[in-house]
Amino acid sequence: MTRFKIMERMSSPPAGRNLFSHFPITTTDKRPVPMKMSEIIVENQVMLSAGSDTTQSALAYTMFLLAANPEKQRTLREILQKTLPTEEVTSVVASYNSVKNIPYLKACLDESMRLYAPIGFGLPRRTLGEGATIVGHHIPCGVTISAPVYTIQCNETLFKDESKHVPERWLPENPATTEEENRNLKDYYLPFSLDGRACIGRNLAYMQMSLAISAMVLAFDWNSPRLVSR
Ligand code: HEM
Repeated sequence: MTRFKIMERMSSPPAGRNLFSHFPITTTDKRPVPMKMSEIIVENQVMLSAGSDTTQSALAYTMFLLAANPEKQRTLREILQKTLPTEEVTSVVASYNSVKNIPYLKACLDESMRLYAPIGFGLPRRTLGEGATIVGHHIPCGVTISAPVYTIQCNETLFKDESKHVPERWLPENPATTEEENRNLKDYYLPFSLDGRACIGRNLAYMQMSLAISAMVLAFDWNSPRLVSR
């Protein structure tokens, strides 16, 4: 599919600039060797697999949680209606400029990825040098270790009501969030992983999710009587 899509896009490029406009496929003085078609295909395969299933899972879980917690869905809708310019409230999709700084919208996305991280298993890492000491245990060099994201993000010693859907915990002005929990939300929230190998598509993911969820919440009111609120 990736190969087909790339061939299609490259044989009839759209008018405006897009991701493909940046591929180094022509020679320049600075770059005498252009990118090969096989490299373009592999790069895009990584982007497609890393960026589609993850974002889609995060969207599905966010919608599930907003269905199971209709009062949170209502709050988000009211905030969007109040904050967005009138013409954007009635348009199919609001502009990213208008939705990107709405704390409650980001809080709903973050709370959903805390409860249901799209990559919830422990990502493998190899110990280096003299090994590592983890919770008092010495792990020698060259051992593959991992910490399951779900176990960390839903740990009752780090987060109050750890398995409940509480988007408000992410709002800095929320009186129920202690300073310690605020710190934990920064240090122990890792749906995109941390440091050198962390997700490079994180900003794109927030953009896509903010646009999709705000459009859905403004256009529909959904719930399911069979869902049990977390
Ligand atoms: C909610 C959406 C997303 C989540 C939860 C997510 C999560 C992650 C995680 C946990 C990693 C680290 C993997 C590791 O440490 O081994 C990662 C890496 C990566 N992500 Fe994402 N991702 C998301 C969206 C995207 C998007 C939209 C793109 C690009 C279109 C993307 C591209 C990548 C790439 C290329 C890597 C590998 C980076 C590297 O190894 O240097 N991701 N992602």
